[in-house]
Amino acid sequence: MFREIVSGATYRCLIDGQWRDGRVHPPIDVTSPCDGRVIGKIQALSKEEVDEAFAAAKAAQKKWAQTPVNHRAVLLHKAADLLEEHCDEIARILSEEIAKDIDSAVSEVQRTADFIRFTADEGKHMEGETVGADHFPGFKKQRFSVVTRVPLGVVLAIAPFNYPVNLSVSKIAPALMAGNSVILKPPTAGALSALYLAEVFRAAGLPAGVLNTVTGRGSEIGDYLVTHPDVDFISFTGSTAVGRRIASQAQMVPLLLELGGKDAAIILEDADLQDAAKNIVAGAYSYSGQRCTAVKRVLVMESVADELAALLKAHVDKLKVGLPSQPVQITPLINKQAADFVQELIDDAVEKGAQLLCGGRREGNLIYPTLFDRVTTDMRLAWEEPFGPVLPILRVQSVDEAIRIANDSEYGLQSAVFTKNIDRAFYVANNLEVGTVHINNKTERGPDHFPFLGVKASGMGTQGIRYSIEAMSRPKVVIINLGDERHE
Ligand code: NAP
Ligand code: G3H
Repeated sequence: MFREIVSGATYRCLIDGQWRDGRVHPPIDVTSPCDGRVIGKIQALSKEEVDEAFAAAKAAQKKWAQTPVNHRAVLLHKAADLLEEHCDEIARILSEEIAKDIDSAVSEVQRTADFIRFTADEGKHMEGETVGADHFPGFKKQRFSVVTRVPLGVVLAIAPFNYPVNLSVSKIAPALMAGNSVILKPPTAGALSALYLAEVFRAAGLPAGVLNTVTGRGSEIGDYLVTHPDVDFISFTGSTAVGRRIASQAQMVPLLLELGGKDAAIILEDADLQDAAKNIVAGAYSYSGQRCTAVKRVLVMESVADELAALLKAHVDKLKVGLPSQPVQITPLINKQAADFVQELIDDAVEKGAQLLCGGRREGNLIYPTLFDRVTTDMRLAWEEPFGPVLPILRVQSVDEAIRIANDSEYGLQSAVFTKNIDRAFYVANNLEVGTVHINNKTERGPDHFPFLGVKASGMGTQGIRYSIEAMSRPKVVIINLGDERHE
């Protein structure tokens, strides 16, 4: 099934239903984060080729919008079945190219198949409404509006490296159910599995041009993509820096931005510390901390800090470190630049007197799981997103101090609060400037039909299956004026 995607070692792009070779630039190497080996090559598309992809998407969208919603849903279900059928193969490629441990890679692909099915079903229930004019003073019953939801047109979907399959589908599937066509720009690290995903949709019977892929370095083709006159909506997941750039360039084009985070776990005196420690370590270190929703700082009441720190250390010591093909939690980071950045944060914390409880070692791109106690607010680790397996513990004297430090962050994605007192849990939740607060649970995105959003530098707009379909469609209003209903 996947034969047409690759020509030699180079992956093609799907444009207007055909897998095509690039015509101009030399291809880009996709390398293993573990040993730098070239795993495959992707096209660096020229502007003219990008134009061709947009022209195909624009032309195909008109017909796709006319396709009955129940037909679209059948097609998405087929894609989900195909994805599941090829789960092991796609997960292996994903695991190899982004060094995600194989169990998590398989679970990403399975979760994605579930996501597609749920979206197909949810899309069938997106109904319109009628609104009567007589609700407003001065109007009578003869006038009412019929409000339906219509697609926006061409959706530009830009996905990050850490979930190349799942965070591509979280844009593609809702866009398609709403009747849009899609241009997918996969992350360069993660492009291979994202291109396999595109083939899954093509093989499921998606008409030519409804889903197209464009590859190339974001730093080179990004501006051209986001300012393209044929873009009607941009759904971007990635760093705050790139999100800001996109927001400044995309004029009058609606945006959905899911960006960085510095999620805090706040531990009150009465928390179940065993449970909190288990949750926090799972939340902070899975996929080596390369998740926007990873717990990225612990704010703990001084009176229970010693006990929590010891419990956290015990869990971190048990984390397995190794290669992505093995059943481990900690694998090499995505590239040297990422590992260098995490190392800088570690060095800064050590220099300024944080207490290293475990880790602090590095081999190439592999950073051993690292836990710091007594991190203070003058340290970079208190504020910056490492996107690596490093967790700082900050000790606080009061609930309000924890809330203040949590809110002083530029980010506002999620937070967690651990306590047995529901009133205090809600006090904390109501005062945190974030999209979501978890009570007695680690921060995380799923289940995928929940609304998912960041505030401040963590994003704008709301993702989550129904919310995404709504974001990628708009109301269309037809107003009816009936004649006088009285008969002589
Ligand atoms: P990134 O560097 O911002 O890249 C994300 C995507 O944007 C990639 O496809 C990248 O392409 C592309 N890109 C780069 N420069 C661009 C430009 N100027 N215009 C348009 N597109 C451009 O982020 P990442 O390193 O892949 O992901 C890590 C970051 O994403 C972290 O900050 C993390 O917190 C955040 N994230 C947030 C969420 C969320 O839901 N809130 C989820 C996942 C990740 P190339 O790969 O070719 O550079
Ligand atoms: O990296 C950002 C993802 O949206 C996080 O998803 O909480 O399911 O790992 P997750």
